Amino acid sequence: MSPESVNRRQLPVFLRNVRIGFGGRLIQDEMTFTIEDGEFIAVLGPNGAGKTTLLKLLLGLIRPEAGEVLVFGRRPSRGNPKIGYAPQFRTLDANFAVRARDLVGFGLDGHRWGPGFPSRKRRRLVDAALEEVRASEYAEAAVGELSGGEKQRLSLAQVLIANPGLVLLDEPLANLDIASALEIVSLVGGLCASRKVAVMLVTHDINPLLQHVDRVVYMANARSAIGAPETVITRETLSSLYNHPVEVVEAMGKKFVLGVET
Ligand SMILES: Nc1ncnc2c1ncn2[C@@H]1O[C@H](COP(=O)(O)OP(=O)(O)OP(=O)(O)O)[C@@H](O)[C@H]1O
Ligand SMILES: [Mg+2]
Repeated sequence: MSPESVNRRQLPVFLRNVRIGFGGRLIQDEMTFTIEDGEFIAVLGPNGAGKTTLLKLLLGLIRPEAGEVLVFGRRPSRGNPKIGYAPQFRTLDANFAVRARDLVGFGLDGHRWGPGFPSRKRRRLVDAALEEVRASEYAEAAVGELSGGEKQRLSLAQVLIANPGLVLLDEPLANLDIASALEIVSLVGGLCASRKVAVMLVTHDINPLLQHVDRVVYMANARSAIGAPETVITRETLSSLYNHPVEVVEAMGKKFVLGVET
């Protein structure tokens, strides 16, 4: 193996010929791509395409049926401190009484510092994480009282506080209005640049991300395509991926995919 290919195996994500399936049902086949430090990747595709499953694969929660999966050069294992994960469908309303700063602090628990982490240092880290996502203003507020966009920023701070090298965000923009979605996206884009953290963000709408992402992984029909949005979100690539005629219309700087569910 050449030195270059050895190095590529140390990247945040290295997938080669990966097949994912459940009980004989194929979800994805032949997934091959790498993600580099500091890259901002959008993960797109219709319901059931396997977006969440892909994140679970990287988290070591499921195993591939075939192929090679490496995260920072190692086979995925549960509780990897290098990965920060914000799951889909998180209901922070249940945490009504929890203060914003406590929610962020939970991101330190279960990591290498453990519960006995000195409280002064803990406070300093929480303050810094809140500041980084511009949430200091509502640090003392009860989480249940905050807006969807504010909660998403806290969720991001909770993930970042443990200083991950790879961040997996499963539909953080769901239910946000366009202004709030853009705020989250520009925040995440800034973090990729400043912290060199690699981010995979699952979404159904690429438009808020168009100006910020480096590449997109588009999953559909048990297959995937990866590349810059302008090469993947095209009539040719998507029609081939879906095996069905797809039209991509551009208007007012936005892309609209017609002919299929996205
Ligand atoms: N543990 C499992 N056992 C069996 N089937 C599963 C399991 N996990 C996921 N699946 C199936 O795999 C497919 C992909 O699911 P996944 O949750 O990854 O989709 P998704 O792309 O995240 O969809 P959505 O946009 O709705 O969140 C679905 O059909 C789902 O039912
Ligand atoms: Mg999902």
